[in-house]
Amino acid sequence: KVFACVVGARPNFMKMAPILRALRAYSQIRPVLIHTGQHYDPQLSDVFFQDLEMPRPDVHLNVGSGTHAQQTARILEKMEEVLLAGTPDGRKFDRVIVVGDVNSTMAAALAAIKLGIPVAHVEAGLRSFDRSMPEEINRIVTDAVADMLFVSEPSGVENLVREGHPEEQIHLVGNVMIDTLLALLPRAREVGTPQRLGLPVGRYAVVTLHRPSNVDHAETLSGLLEVLAEVAAELPVVFPIHPRTRHRIEAFGLGHLLDGQGTGRRRIWALPPLGYLEFLSLTSQAKVVITDSGGLQEESTALGIPCLTVRPNTERPITVTEGTSTLVGSDPHRLRHCLEEVLAGRYKSGRCPDLWDGHAAERIGEILARE
Ligand code: UD1
Repeated sequence: KVFACVVGARPNFMKMAPILRALRAYSQIRPVLIHTGQHYDPQLSDVFFQDLEMPRPDVHLNVGSGTHAQQTARILEKMEEVLLAGTPDGRKFDRVIVVGDVNSTMAAALAAIKLGIPVAHVEAGLRSFDRSMPEEINRIVTDAVADMLFVSEPSGVENLVREGHPEEQIHLVGNVMIDTLLALLPRAREVGTPQRLGLPVGRYAVVTLHRPSNVDHAETLSGLLEVLAEVAAELPVVFPIHPRTRHRIEAFGLGHLLDGQGTGRRRIWALPPLGYLEFLSLTSQAKVVITDSGGLQEESTALGIPCLTVRPNTERPITVTEGTSTLVGSDPHRLRHCLEEVLAGRYKSGRCPDLWDGHAAERIGEILARE
């Protein structure tokens, strides 16, 4: 069986790496790795291939950035060509495997199903019920066309059943992102990012922000940066900045909130985006994580580190009900209040959800091999 395994953007890489490894255990399965090129900066792509010891992509579509329609259309066209062509030795693709909820996930799934190639979706069933989020549309469309739905938490099963998916297509397997985290945590600890930056271990906040709803409006972004600048007086704030966010900070003229110049405040540690190991080294030794990322909500829960989620909703409710995450929206006062709870030691503790045990990809491999 030849499986096209598709990645495109940063959060895809750490999900696909353990799946590729698991599939290699089966001689009847041949994975072909396709990179759409949605993320192309070395810091958003190449460094992950190195850190995760991923093989180089067999096929690169080089689609790059663009509007949603442009990016999706380019992936559709190029994926179709690749899928029609088959492998260099003349084999057809038996299945396409997509992960997560980025534009590449949805576009690759659509290209495949239109050619009659079945789709497996890893991280299926998650719903924020917020259709203003591009990822929610990607999740709904991808699940609608997939016939193998690999789910990371029970809410995903409930959502898929409610939407009418046959139960035999739904597999609760756990979280492949946590497979990678558990496998690489010992190496990440050796990297010593906080030590290198001179940060007090266990006493700093890690911030990531990149959702359009938080960074594309000057008022929302400046409100958030204001709180972070205030917090920096008590707790060092480290902020590896996504290119989208960096562009917005520059365009809105908000750079002074980062460097503290003219405000008399302590600076925020603004960093370029970090590689997987450097970033895990940083988060695993933090006091608190402040983020709008989906993956980081899950990683914080697995690490047992408080996570203040800068969103009004989440498609990963288990990180709130069982894990260490709290939804704070983008209200600066609520963020401030929750940070005070963390600093005062009054913040809730959490547990790592069932099946987030480092073996999710092996379960996926077993099911795919049985097909
Ligand atoms: C994408 C995903 C998002 C995911 C995020 C993780 C979609 C709809 N969004 O958002 O779900 O959480 O990745 O990072 O798929 N850019 C660069 N270099 C790059 C890639 C992008 O500078 O290598 C800049 C460009 O200005 C681009 C912008 O970032 O226009 C947005 O990139 P895009 O891939 O469209 O979405 P992300 O915001 O990265």
